[in-house]
Amino acid sequence: MAQQRSARVGYWLAVLALGCGGPAPRSGGAPPPPPSAAPVAPALPAPVPSAAAVVQPSPQLPAEPPRVAVGRHGAVASQEANATDVALGVLQQGGNAVDAAIALGLALAVTHPSAGNLGGGGFMVIRRADGAAYALDYRETAPSAASRDMYLDAQGNLSDARLNGPKAAGIPGTVAGFAAAHAKLGKLPWRALVEPALRLARDGFTLTAEDASTLGRGAAKMRELGYAASARIYSRKDGAPLQAGDRWVQPELAKTLGLIATEPTAFYRGPLAATLAREVRRAGGLWTPADLARYEARWREPVVFDYRGHTIITMPLPSAGGVVLEQLLVASEVLGLERRAWRSADEIHLFAEAMRRTYADRNQLLGDPDFVKVPPDLLETSYIRDRMRGIELERATPSAEIQAGVAPAREESTQTTHYSVVDADGNAVANTYTLNTGFGAKFVVPGTGVLLNNEMDDFAVKPGAPNVFGLVQGEPNKIEPGKRMLSSMTPTVVVRGGRLRAVLGSPGGPTISTTVAQLVRGLVDYGQPLSVVVPALRVHHQWLPDQIWTEEQLSPALKAELERRGHVIRQRPHLGHANVIEVDAETGERRAVADTTRGEGKAAAY
Ligand code: GLY
Repeated sequence: MAQQRSARVGYWLAVLALGCGGPAPRSGGAPPPPPSAAPVAPALPAPVPSAAAVVQPSPQLPAEPPRVAVGRHGAVASQEANATDVALGVLQQGGNAVDAAIALGLALAVTHPSAGNLGGGGFMVIRRADGAAYALDYRETAPSAASRDMYLDAQGNLSDARLNGPKAAGIPGTVAGFAAAHAKLGKLPWRALVEPALRLARDGFTLTAEDASTLGRGAAKMRELGYAASARIYSRKDGAPLQAGDRWVQPELAKTLGLIATEPTAFYRGPLAATLAREVRRAGGLWTPADLARYEARWREPVVFDYRGHTIITMPLPSAGGVVLEQLLVASEVLGLERRAWRSADEIHLFAEAMRRTYADRNQLLGDPDFVKVPPDLLETSYIRDRMRGIELERATPSAEIQAGVAPAREESTQTTHYSVVDADGNAVANTYTLNTGFGAKFVVPGTGVLLNNEMDDFAVKPGAPNVFGLVQGEPNKIEPGKRMLSSMTPTVVVRGGRLRAVLGSPGGPTISTTVAQLVRGLVDYGQPLSVVVPALRVHHQWLPDQIWTEEQLSPALKAELERRGHVIRQRPHLGHANVIEVDAETGERRAVADTTRGEGKAAAY
C-alpha cells in the first residue's frame, strides 16, 4: 500500500514536472544552443517562462496513473485484455514478437470489433533485435470498379455510401498482411496464431461494461442503417443490447477463422472469397473475386531518421504517418521546442503552427506512391526550415494564409487501434490497423462474421472537400482502381545507441501522427517515462479546419492564452489511445503502458 502511494506521488510529481516544463534547462540553467545553425523563425524571442506555462492537473486527469507492467522478457500493450493475454501466451510459448502481434491482431478482430478486424487493413513496423527494420503495408485497395467521383451525385453532393454500407469498403489487407509477416519473420506455426482468436469467437468471452456499451452503440447504428442481420451479431439472442457480464459468442466469425487457420489465402481465393465478393455486390458494393485474388500486402522501406540522438523507425507512404512525424519532429527541433516548457502556451502554439504547415503538405501533396509522384524534398531539413519561416510567437497564422479553403469537421469516432509487442530477444512490433470509423461500414458480410471497413472515405472522395475527419485532401489522393487510400497510421519504433528504446503508436485518424510526435517529444525532449507522457494533455492541428483540437484536461488559463493568440480551440474528451512499451536502454527492462486513462486496455509483461 505504502509502495502504491509513493508510486502515485512520484507519478504526480512527474506530471507536474511535465506541466511546469520538466525540461528544466539541461546544463547550469542556461538553455542549450539551438540545434540548427540559423534559427528558422528569427522573429521568435528566446524562450521565457510563460504566465500560462504551469498546467495544473485538472479534474479530468486520471485519478490513477496507468499501470506499468514491468518485465525482463516479453511485453505487450493493447486496447483489450483478452487480446493482450493471447499475445503474452504466445510469447511465453516461445513465439516471437511477430507471432504475438499476429495472434493479438486476430484476437482483437473478435474481442474489439469496432476497430480490430479481418475486414480492414493497417501497417506494421518491425525492428528485429539484430537491428533490421521492416515496414509492412497491408492497407486496403480501391476495388477495380472504383472511380474518382463514385460518391458524388449529379449535383456534386457527397453520398453517405462513402461511409456506410458495402460500397464504402476497400479490399481488406489484414489477413494478407498477417500472413506476409508470418511467412517472412514468424516462428510458430500459423495455425497456432489463429487458434486463440478462433476459441474466443467460438467459445465466447465475458464482456466488460465498456465492451457492452461500445457493442450496443454499434448495433444501434447498424439497425438505424437497415443492417438488421449485422446488428443481431452484436446483440443478445432476443435482440436486446448485450450487457456487462454476458458471454458473447460469434459462430460465423469462428467458422471464417477456422478456414483462415488452415490457409490464410482462403480469405482471397476459393469459397470464402467467393462468398465475400458475391454478398458485397448483392448488397450494393463493388468487390469482385478478381479484386480479392489480386490483393497483396507490400513490404516497404521504412522511414528512418535521427531525432536528437535517437533513431526513429516509422511507416512510409501510403501512410502519411511517417512523413508527418518526420516533418513535425524536424520542425520541433528547428523551432527549439525542447526549450519551451511542456504544454506551456508557447510550446503548444509553436507546435500547432508546425502541425498546421505539416498537414497542409500532407493533405495536398501525398498519396499512394505506386500511383503518384511525391515531391522528393519534403523531408529535407532546409525545406522544413523554410516552411516554418514566418511563424510568430504571439499570433496564430490563419490557415487561409497558407492555403485557401475552409472545412467543417464532422464529429465521428476514430476507431483505429494500436498495439505494441516486445519479445525476450528484443524483437519489436508496432502495429496499427483499422476499419476506419467505429465498426467501419457497419455491415457484416452475411454468413462470414466479417465486418467491413469504410476506408474509401480516406481517399479525397471529393478533392477539396472535407472527409469524415475534416481532412481537406487533394488530387494525389483521388480514388483510382487498385490504389491505396492515404492514411495517418504511425506505428513507430524508437532506438537509442543501437538499442531498442520504445514501441509507439495510437489510433485517432489524423490525430495519430501528431499524437506519436508528442509521445516521442515527451520521451526525448523532456526525458519523461511513457507512464507520464501517455496520460499527458494532447493537442492536434491539421491545417483545416483551422483549429487546435485538444482534450478536456486543457486548463481554462491555457485555453484563454491560446485563444488570445488567435487559435480556435475545440475540446474532446480524448485524443488517441496509445498502447506503448518503453525499454530501459541500460538494463533492458520492458515497461508496457496501456492508455487506460482514455479507455480500457491492458499492459502485461513477464
Ligand atoms: N482510417 C484512418 C487512417 O488510416 O488514417
